Amino acid sequence: MIATADIVRELRAAGLAGREDVVLEPLTGGVSCDVWKVDTPTGPIVVKRPLPQLRVAAEWLAPVERGTSEVRWLRRARAVDPAIVPEVLAELPGHAFAMRFLPGCPVWKDELTAGRVDIRFAAEVGRSIAEVHAATANSAHDRDAFPNDAMFRALRVDPFFLHVAQKDTELAPALYALADDLVSRKVALVHGDVSPKNILVNAGAPVFLDAECAVYGDPAFDPAFCVTHLLLKAVWLDDIRLVESAAALVAAYRAGISWEVADDLLLRAGKLTAGLLVARVDGKSPAPYLTDAAHRRIVRDQARALILAPQPVDVLVANWKRTDP
Ligand SMILES: Nc1ncnc2c1ncn2[C@@H]1O[C@H](COP(=O)(O)OP(=O)(O)O)[C@@H](O)[C@H]1O
Ligand SMILES: [Mg+2]
Repeated sequence: MIATADIVRELRAAGLAGREDVVLEPLTGGVSCDVWKVDTPTGPIVVKRPLPQLRVAAEWLAPVERGTSEVRWLRRARAVDPAIVPEVLAELPGHAFAMRFLPGCPVWKDELTAGRVDIRFAAEVGRSIAEVHAATANSAHDRDAFPNDAMFRALRVDPFFLHVAQKDTELAPALYALADDLVSRKVALVHGDVSPKNILVNAGAPVFLDAECAVYGDPAFDPAFCVTHLLLKAVWLDDIRLVESAAALVAAYRAGISWEVADDLLLRAGKLTAGLLVARVDGKSPAPYLTDAAHRRIVRDQARALILAPQPVDVLVANWKRTDP
């Protein structure tokens, strides 16, 4: 446990706080980090410091260097489009960093859960992710700046795909092939955690947070990850607008694919989505809200069929069932 006095001293050393009393207000959300809001003379900021181990599952390997990956991603994405990320203000000891706090911006997940579904916003999410992928595609410089393969394996490939593969002989061949393909493909800068809980709604435009899993890899992972969340929520809340949001996200993302054949990417994204959907019901990190056995079965049955007979992600979304037939 790191004393907050250390943080205050570091903020003063970085010139972000003066001699005044500094109050650290914990922000809700995280399992992998301490995140505080701090009022400073120049406005509110956020300080984020990775924990050596995730709070959810002790065996998840999560080196604190992921704080550095996050800062790098935030800076790189800001160079692509300054509207889609908070400004990083300073890097602090212990792989911590400070960024500007965005006031009055709800978390997208809370908006969706409250029934405020804006399909144009989902499209903006897709457009923005594609923008970062397009700007970083086939770039030796970006590839060298994100040598995070071990972390991506530990936080994404192992818990989501291999964990299920190891105990499910029917799905194993497809899931191992999917994992092999995912780790070997080096195409663009991937955020790695594009979940509605990591996106702020800033007057109808998305702001992306929490890029601790950033890696130079397969861009298909990002739309697949976010579509998975929307499809799970569509079953949970039985809300067709969440499926329409997923469709809008995919369509906008597709329009931004400039670096490869769009159909190839959409098929990879469909396979990844199917694998992620199964992982969210039977894997190591199940969706916490999908507790109803019937909901889990609806997701499981569709996802298993899709792993064995993959569909491009746009087709997968168009055919998604929220309820029993
Ligand atoms: N720059 C920011 N402006 C406003 N709120 C923020 C900012 N950064 C983080 N938050 C809030 O803190 C929460 C946790 O931040 P996040 O980076 O997602 O950390 P964790 O890794 O702990 O999930 C977010 O869901 C959001 O509510
Ligand atoms: Mg988060």
